[in-house]
Order: sequence, then structure tokens, then C-alpha cells
Amino acid sequence: MDGVIAPSADRVREDLAALARLTDSAQPGWTRTALSEPDVAGRESVLARMREVGLDARIDPAGNVIGVRRGARGGRMLMTGSHTDTVPSGGRFDGMVGVVGALEVVRAFDEAGIRLDHDLVVVDFFGEEPNRFGLSCVGSRALTGVFDTAMLDVLDEEGRSFGDALAAVGIDPATMMASTWPWDRVDAFIELHIEQGPMLEHAGTSIGLVSSITGISRFRALFGGRRDHAGTTGMDRRADAGCAAAGTVLAVERIARSGPDGAKGTTGGVTFTPAAVNVVTEAAEMRGEFRSIDDEWLRTAEETLASCAAEESAGRGVTVEMEWLPQAPRRLDGSVTEMCRRAVDDLGLSRAELFSGAEHDAAFIAARSPTAMLFVPSVGGRSHCPEEWTELDDVIDGIRALAESLRRADAVRR
Ligand code: GLV
Ligand code: MN
Ligand code: MN
Repeated sequence: MDGVIAPSADRVREDLAALARLTDSAQPGWTRTALSEPDVAGRESVLARMREVGLDARIDPAGNVIGVRRGARGGRMLMTGSHTDTVPSGGRFDGMVGVVGALEVVRAFDEAGIRLDHDLVVVDFFGEEPNRFGLSCVGSRALTGVFDTAMLDVLDEEGRSFGDALAAVGIDPATMMASTWPWDRVDAFIELHIEQGPMLEHAGTSIGLVSSITGISRFRALFGGRRDHAGTTGMDRRADAGCAAAGTVLAVERIARSGPDGAKGTTGGVTFTPAAVNVVTEAAEMRGEFRSIDDEWLRTAEETLASCAAEESAGRGVTVEMEWLPQAPRRLDGSVTEMCRRAVDDLGLSRAELFSGAEHDAAFIAARSPTAMLFVPSVGGRSHCPEEWTELDDVIDGIRALAESLRRADAVRR
């Protein structure tokens, strides 16, 4: 069957294009990083769009844009949505498909005369991508009551605190924790997202049903050495913090390569101080992460990397301190996923089950409400880059699957 709703490809194309216009033109690709002016503009535009489609919408104290379509019975809720911030020089689909898709579901429900019993809540979560302070999923952490206020004091490279950076974009860190939600009234959260990997495209499959979302152990390592003259200080008399960091970068790769299937390890940034070609590096800061759905392996990887960093440092008279920010893998809800599976089958779409190696707000929501995720294919498996692309037909299939899944979830009486 085609389903009872008919999403409009023109509207979806235009909504995606409108967001793509609100990006930092000074950078390649599409950049709307959390805490930037384009991000503020992007969330304001989503707020306006939510109101245009008739949602009762507002921006909450943590910067989440939340719109509600009232149900016939009220009281109980279904939730959907994603994020509109991007990585630096990112693409036009990661996150946006889930927000634009949710808005199109609302319009298509209206056109088909469908009123759900549940209130339908659409969310554009603030700051899903790791920001320059190294914290991701800020809005969904706050909305689920797990935002760690110690993060407010973390400094960026210019010595500015995360709390100040939030205030600069109109989010008051003192009241941010007032962002709450009555999770006991949410019967399901379903997030539509691009796969960001190659599996669906390779298999020629329309929809991915996500079984689990990867765990992530992010770290920041600070190496302390001694600043010396690069031309007069013998190689055996140096405490070169840069070399200790470089050895640790390679250890991240080595550890992940020898990990279980699907294990990943990435160094996402290294800075040397002073960054001067004729000075031995006094301090190095390194940021990276391990990912796996095997939580036990993540703990082992943390321990192994900590001892590699200690070894690389001790041999050079360098000190090292490491901070970890672990996030457990999350299994998604079997019964909501089963509703999605039936919806996809009834629509005659092909499907595959897969785990997500990417992080999602859904991982946080899943701790508070039954949660499922629907993936649509990414061309060439590319994502977090300007080439990121999903065919419009695939986006439309995802929107149809989302709409049908929500209708099935609505039919379950509590
Ligand atoms: C977000 O897209 C992530 O996986 O880091
Ligand atoms: Mn992303
Ligand atoms: Mn995303």
C-alpha cells in the first residue's frame, strides 16, 4: 500500500534548501555549528516553520525547539524530531531530515484529515553534534535531566567558558536545567535520520531499523613538557609534549583496529603550544574517542590508551592527564521497533536491521521513553562532509515510514 499520507517532495526539498541557506558561507560545505549565529537563525527558522504548520511551538530553556500538535484525547504523547546543527563543513541531511520530515508528517496528516489521539511533539534538539567544548546532545541531555552542570565551566581554546558561550546565544545556563519533559506521558519517540554509512545503499534497501546506538568514550588528554630552543636542545634532553601526543594518536588507531567488529577510534584534534617551528612543544592537547556497542571493550580501550599515553609521556619526561566522558551503548525499544517494522512492511518498502555507529539524541531519549530509529540511505555512505547526500525519493520513503509508524504507535491504547 502507499499509505494514507502523501508527503510533498517539493515542500521537503524547499525546507531542506531553506536550512542549507542558513549556514556559514565562509566555510566549505554547510556549517551550522551549535553556538553559532547560523545555528540560532536555523532554530528560529524551525520555530517559524512549526508555527506555520500549526504547531504550538516554543524554544525551551535549553535551546530545544518544541512544537505540539494536539491529539484528540490528549494527555499521552508521541514524540519525533532530530537536530539542525551540523559539524564544521558538514552536509545538508544529518539531523535535518528528521526535523523537516517531522514537519512534513504534520502537514501530510492535516491534508489527509488525520488527527491522532496522542499529542504529537516535534523537537529540534539543541546542539546534537560535539561542540567546541567537546559536549554533544546538549538539548536532549537537558530535556532528559542528565546534563552535567560541571560542563558549564569547561573552557574553549580562547579561555571562554561553555556557560558564557550558551549565554551569548540566549540560553541562560542558570535556568537551562528547567528544561524538563513529562516522560511518563510519552509512549514512543521515533527519530528519522540518514544512515551516514554504506549498508543500506549497498543492499539496495529503503529503510534501516536501528537495533542499538553505539557507546562512545570521548577523552581529552593534556600533555605537559618543557619549552626549549629547537636548535640547541639535544634530542636526548627534550621533554617534547608534542611527540608524546603523536605517539598516543597512533595508539588510538592501533587499539581500535584490534577491537571487536564495529569498534572505532578517532583523534579529532591535537593542538601544540607554542605552535612555533623553532620551539620544543611545551603543552599538547588531544581530543578523541572510541566507539563500540560493546561497553566492556570501551572500558578496556580506555585503560589501554591511558597506559599507552603514560608510556609515551614517561619516556620523554612529559606529564599526562586524561579526562573521559563515557556514554553507554543504548539498545532501542523492541516493541516500538516492531511497530516500525510492520509499518515499513505494509508500505511495501524494503528494510534491514542495523546498529548505529553514529551518536543520536535518541540514545538519551531512549533512557526515558520507548524509542526507535528509522534510517534512510546515504549516497556512498558519506556523512559529516559536504558530499553528504540522500536522494529525495528516499527521504520521502522515510517520511512515509515515520508517519505510518506514528499511526501504529497512536493506535496502542494505554
Ligand atoms: C554525530 O553525528 C556523531 O555520531 O558524532
Ligand atoms: Mn552528525
Ligand atoms: Mn545526526
